Amino acid sequence: MSDTAGDNTALEQELDRMLEIEKFPPPAEFRDRATWSDPAIYEEAAADPVAWWTARSKELLDWDTPPTEGLDDSDPPFYKWFSDGRINASAQCLDRHVAAGNGERVAYHWRGEEGERRDVTYAELLASTERFANALKDLGVDKGDVVGIYLPMIPEVAVAMLACARIGAIHNVVFGGFSAESVRERMEFSEAKALVTVDGARRKGRTAPIKEQVDEHLGDLGSLEKIVVVRATGIDCPMSEGRDVFYDEVCEAAEADCPAQPMEAEHPLFILYTSGSTAKPKGILHTTGGYMTGVTTTHRYVFDLKPETDVYWCAADVGWITGHSYIVYGPLSNGATSVMWEGAPDYPHKGIWWETVQDTGATILYAAPTAIRTFIKWGADIPAKYDLSSLRLLGSVGEPINPKAWLWYHQVIGGGRCPIVDTWWQTETGAIMITPLAGITETKPGSATTPFPGVSAEVVDEREGTPVSEGQGLLMLEAPWPSMLRTLYKEDERFVETYFSRFGKERYLVGDAARRDADGYFWVIGRIDDVVNVSGHRLSTAEVESAIVAHEAVAEAAVIGQSDPDTGQAICAFVTLRGGTEPSDDLQEGIRGEVAERIGKFARPKRIVWADDLPKTRSGKIMRRLLRDIAEGRALGDVTTLRDPGVMAELERQIAAEGDED
Ligand code: PRX
Repeated sequence: MSDTAGDNTALEQELDRMLEIEKFPPPAEFRDRATWSDPAIYEEAAADPVAWWTARSKELLDWDTPPTEGLDDSDPPFYKWFSDGRINASAQCLDRHVAAGNGERVAYHWRGEEGERRDVTYAELLASTERFANALKDLGVDKGDVVGIYLPMIPEVAVAMLACARIGAIHNVVFGGFSAESVRERMEFSEAKALVTVDGARRKGRTAPIKEQVDEHLGDLGSLEKIVVVRATGIDCPMSEGRDVFYDEVCEAAEADCPAQPMEAEHPLFILYTSGSTAKPKGILHTTGGYMTGVTTTHRYVFDLKPETDVYWCAADVGWITGHSYIVYGPLSNGATSVMWEGAPDYPHKGIWWETVQDTGATILYAAPTAIRTFIKWGADIPAKYDLSSLRLLGSVGEPINPKAWLWYHQVIGGGRCPIVDTWWQTETGAIMITPLAGITETKPGSATTPFPGVSAEVVDEREGTPVSEGQGLLMLEAPWPSMLRTLYKEDERFVETYFSRFGKERYLVGDAARRDADGYFWVIGRIDDVVNVSGHRLSTAEVESAIVAHEAVAEAAVIGQSDPDTGQAICAFVTLRGGTEPSDDLQEGIRGEVAERIGKFARPKRIVWADDLPKTRSGKIMRRLLRDIAEGRALGDVTTLRDPGVMAELERQIAAEGDED
């Protein structure tokens, strides 16, 4: 014990010393072997971004009909890319690798929670995808239909996505951590015709009865004609005659051959719902040719991918954009061998990630800062027990990474020899936008550094929209890029209003605050809208508020994101109870339960503050800024616009009482 404590202190001191280091140049050994080590790439791309992207698209993808056009910007912000080209995303991910003789290459080293191992080759993935694509057709799914996917991290999730892409159906994946109620909402908004789900899902040794929950919440959804159930755990589940079928049975009955249909470049590939400023999630729509160009290019360049030798592990969930772009489409399109991992970081033990690296020989690890902070808490002696020498590159995604966590990742996991790529992007951008190139960029802990070649970003003044040279401003993407969202599904106006109304239809408003330093590096600070980032999961305050007020005892609620050392931000809810209701611990649990039921467990408020009243302006708008100040113990900002300034004194008293209880 004492040895470990001594080591930890020595490590702490080393990391503290390293905080003084401003820049980390690419390690010479890495740079010497990197495919991209010449900074001229930035100038080349900047000289003609559309030509640069078009060249990448043709170099990295096999088009059925190569496009003659790059960007069509005749109707901003409804941009089109490569629009006269034809391509099929599933053929890019599968058929071409098999045709090139790489069918026996492992696409996924799947690792299950209970230690199961399944290595799925490209040839096997193709065969499963063809069968399931035929099965979907047999079930009446046509090109342009929406298919919901609500699956855990099992290889069938990739099969389901690729089978949709193969026949031109639009998939709508819902993260397995969302509740069935959220699935219903997303299926309803997108008018999904079919849903692919499981009998049950495992989590840390327990099995949740997913199909049963789906039935409870989606049983009466008229548009949903078919539910396909993957028997992942073998638990009994209700099946509705005529509507529900088992995945294995429909695949068995289907034809084996399903040639990929070439799709128009702008054919929708998928919808992915994400949180915005209002309670209603936004259906981000991505199309085929541009998206495939964006993810294939960035996955190859950012991770300096060597498809023949790398073992790449993105430890995200397929249900988020990171999983779509960097577990499924990017890696498969590049013919990479990936790790697909089902479990939680502490099950069956806290060294499972490092055991997985050791066991698969992973060379690249792409993870969220929140996971890294958790590992820091558990101690460096855990990863120290495993051989991590196969790693050569580390990535970070989803939220700002604090410099100390960056350094720990660099030293403890990367052994000081692996460059770190801190990648900034969004569901909307489809692919990585601001990132180092590991063989070129000098990195600075905490900064995502500079835009990817062919991407134009700027930090601007919030009123004028002019670049700010020093200090904070709004992050903007100043020119269209191939993998950009095309619209919000069935909500064109909301699309224009949300992203392209602030400074015109040609400048994309990101929704993040950022600053640039003297070297022009970008430092992303966080969201400017009412979106909270909990462990890299995006949530809208309005969404959580509406779940809380659904509780019968609640009169009103206001939710803010509060800084949290573990999860980046945590949900803090100010709750006003209905007259006559007394606050209690049971009530707190009841409110958390309501949020879990309506959104998902990950959205449960960490902190609930009982508030007799909430600070509102004269027009009745809740002033979240003041709630943020008070929650974080900061001096209060301007309170003169409050209808009743006395509210804040009362809240301060209630917060103090909360402290006493602790
Ligand atoms: O605020 C930024 C933050 O995550 C938001 C996008 O969330 P989502 O669409 O769920 O996509 C997450 C995975 C790409 C952004 O608006 N964000 C993402 N990556 C970073 C980040 N903030 C700082 N640094 C990053 N590397």
